[in-house]
Amino acid sequence: MSENTFDVVIIGGGPGGYVAAIRAAQLGLKTACVEKRGTLGGTCLNVGCIPSKALLSASHHFHAAGHELAAFGVKVGKVELDLGAMMGHKDKVVSDNTKGIEFLFKKNKVTYIVGAGEITAPGQVKVTGKDAKTLTAKHIVIATGSDVTPLPGVTIDEEVIVSSTGALALPKVPKHLVVIGGGVIGLELATVWGRLGTKITVVEYLDRILPFNDGEVSKQMQRILAKQGMEFKLGTKVTGIDKKGKKATVSVEPAAGGKAETIEADCVLVAIGRKPYTDGLGLDKVGVALDKRGFVQIDGHFKTNVPGIYAIGDVVGGAMLAHKAEEEGVALAEILAGQHGHVNYDVIPAVVYTWPEVASVGKTEEQLKAEGIAYKAGKFPFTANGRARSMNETDGFVKILADATTDKVLGAHIVGPNAGDLLAEVVLAMEFGAAAEDIARTCHSHPGLGEAVKEAALAVDGRPLHT
Ligand code: FAD
Ligand code: NAI
Repeated sequence: MSENTFDVVIIGGGPGGYVAAIRAAQLGLKTACVEKRGTLGGTCLNVGCIPSKALLSASHHFHAAGHELAAFGVKVGKVELDLGAMMGHKDKVVSDNTKGIEFLFKKNKVTYIVGAGEITAPGQVKVTGKDAKTLTAKHIVIATGSDVTPLPGVTIDEEVIVSSTGALALPKVPKHLVVIGGGVIGLELATVWGRLGTKITVVEYLDRILPFNDGEVSKQMQRILAKQGMEFKLGTKVTGIDKKGKKATVSVEPAAGGKAETIEADCVLVAIGRKPYTDGLGLDKVGVALDKRGFVQIDGHFKTNVPGIYAIGDVVGGAMLAHKAEEEGVALAEILAGQHGHVNYDVIPAVVYTWPEVASVGKTEEQLKAEGIAYKAGKFPFTANGRARSMNETDGFVKILADATTDKVLGAHIVGPNAGDLLAEVVLAMEFGAAAEDIARTCHSHPGLGEAVKEAALAVDGRPLHT
């Protein structure tokens, strides 16, 4: 095989693309990954999951030092913010992680090609940029991810009117941040800046925040976040943003119509969703079909309509989550190697890293009702969990939903401390097709937050021990 001929060429080095590349190489396929950003890891490692979590952790410490430690008998002097150092922590975490992927590529013998890939014909990728060349491949994988959904009529300058990317790198703490969109990005980044002293106003078009979560979770989170100081304007639409120098005036009115008002802000975050990114890929020329919203259309085995061209990750839609992209990357690599890769889309966890965290998997109560599935719900509050009480972290609950007849777990929704990690056992249980009773009869260590999961499972059968 010549130097520029590969079994698999993957365009995009995010969680979908880089994981597909590693798995394909592990399975003996000659693999290249083309990435134009200059660093590997995609949105997630560079401007998404990782920097946001680095700032969430850092701001959590800052807030705890100023507001929470005294309750534990820990006195600290005047707490001061060094925003530069906090951003330095975030930048280092990002850089260590992205370099880590380069190391993994070398270890697994994946060829990393720096430049923009364009599919010029089936089996052919033209790369422009640093490593300009033309590659030939038996299989081409589109893993080009997603980009910010713009708000019509609003220009993002990444200074006063920012996307998540700008909000992860503000040079100073804004006085008033207006967040447009009460979804995952909006609430996570509002949490970061709110903890550092910014007044937060969240403007959400629908009548609830976190509209994709279980309704009870959304309500509870709104109450908790309001207690933390966030203001919410629900059922409200933004009709325009007038930017003057370093200030912005946001015009809003009730979505159903009514009295308009304006909100003055020194920063506005637009976080109303993300859209597939396929610019410059040449898909129209090779005839790869997109759906109405621009997502690459695939079949159940990640095949596009053009033989030899596949797609995974955010660019194909579904849950726009890094771990979903990774699972697809692994499954596709295994299929290309002749194995039977598969993704169980019914069991994809999702976590919102506010505090408390919000973690969910499977169906919500609203979905089960809409689908006419009879279910039992078991719920346990963290106020009744010894470990949570010892941590002063009693907000939230665990809710497990199980089939009314078979007891099979259909969904779980957790608001609480470390909810994301707590969810993992339910995810595994669901993957194994477990019943709520299986979780209820499993020994959980004491005192542990996980006992709340066991108690919620017991509550499904109406027999919790501690409430
Ligand atoms: P991406 O990560 O978007 O990677 C695509 C890559 O392709 C990019 O690096 C891009 O430069 C490259 N590319 C595009 N076109 C070309 C081309 N023509 N040639 C070469 N390269 C190209 N998900 C979670 O699961 N957990 C989280 O906590 C989380 N937090 C997030 C926080 C924020 C602020 C944001 C914005 C997103 C977050 N996400 C999170 C979502 C997550 O980042 C995405 O789901 C994930 O990155 C998708 O992976 P991907 O590989 O499909 O695409
Ligand atoms: P989102 O879809 O989670 O939330 C967007 C919110 O904006 C929704 O509540 C929607 O109703 C609202 N909205 C839409 N148009 C609006 C308008 N014109 N005015 C006011 N509100 C409007 O999208 P978000 O937060 O931008 O995140 C994008 C993606 O990134 C998500 O799909 C998510 O999966 C992923 N992500 C995941 C994270 C995680 O797993 N922890 C963290 C951050 C992002």
